[in-house]
Amino acid sequence: TTVENGSVKWESPSNIALVKYWGKKEHQIPENPSISFTLSNCKTITEVTFTKKESEGFSFDVFFEGIKNEAFKPKIQTFFKRIEHYVPFLKEYHFKIETSNTFPHSSGIASSASGMSAIALCLMSIEQILTNYSTLDAPDGFYNSTYFKQKASFLARLGSGSACRSVEGTLVVWGNNNTFEGSSDLYGVKYEEEVHSNFQNYQDTILLVDKGEKQVSSTVGHQLMYGHPFAKERFAQAHDNLAKLKTILASGDLEAFVKIVESEALTLHAMMMTSMPYFILMKPNTLEIINKIWAYRLKTDSKVCFTLDAGANVHVLYPENEKASILEFIKTELVSYCQNGHYICDQIGLGANQI
Ligand code: PMV
Repeated sequence: TTVENGSVKWESPSNIALVKYWGKKEHQIPENPSISFTLSNCKTITEVTFTKKESEGFSFDVFFEGIKNEAFKPKIQTFFKRIEHYVPFLKEYHFKIETSNTFPHSSGIASSASGMSAIALCLMSIEQILTNYSTLDAPDGFYNSTYFKQKASFLARLGSGSACRSVEGTLVVWGNNNTFEGSSDLYGVKYEEEVHSNFQNYQDTILLVDKGEKQVSSTVGHQLMYGHPFAKERFAQAHDNLAKLKTILASGDLEAFVKIVESEALTLHAMMMTSMPYFILMKPNTLEIINKIWAYRLKTDSKVCFTLDAGANVHVLYPENEKASILEFIKTELVSYCQNGHYICDQIGLGANQI
């Protein structure tokens, strides 16, 4: 019998890359492997209500924070087109997509990773309902939680590349590479290697330097790597840094961690500065913060470091045992560089949850 209607709900977090994904081939295939910390507090909560329909084509409504939103529709339309082949029921139902973020919308924090992974997970839950299997007790052992998460990550990737790293935690690898067996270009894989206790509950305080719209969309950004004079070297470097990071994560060598993570952030921005057209996505306050962090490290034995995504905001990463001192440092020395003194405290998390 056909299921006429129903409703599913997921919360899915944002993530912050340690080794950056920058450059893609067709079908959202990354040019290089990446690895990220899954976040905990910065997340999207999405409920999808599905109702059987007769009409042809896609049919959906989007509500953002309770208000009908037209601006998100084209993105979701594109997403639906890309995944249609893998989600056959997509044209058979009308979807009411109700979504909200735990972080302010215009904070300059990309919501594409959390948003796209949340929808992908909802679609997987609907697939599960329509095929009438429980995630865990599939008769053939196929429709199990590995299949569920892998396909959710696969679909999320087609929404936004980095979204495929938000399904699980606390570390996720995406992109074929020789360091991690089982890694894939098609979906993110939970990091199952040894992780030293130094990285337990690692903290990420996000300093909101510029809450405006991104100057360069990531779609345009990735395209800048086509024909980029340093592309080949950059992609090779990402493989190299990933291998190094594996050793560092096992040994707990925080000094080596800082070097890789900061170098990756600056390299991402260096790629944008040396592409054609070229961009500077950092703001003066981004540099002020970076310099303050470096000065703080010199005068203390702190292992605090920064990373950046494709914008001006700064992610301040540090071990849990430095929480009190770094929060004090942020409040006294860094908050003045944030737009309206705004920052968000987060830490690494375990991934998405059904609610
Ligand atoms: O997922 P996209 O296409 O928005 O790309 C995100 C790229 C970076 O955030 C800059 C790096 C990364 O690996 O997350």
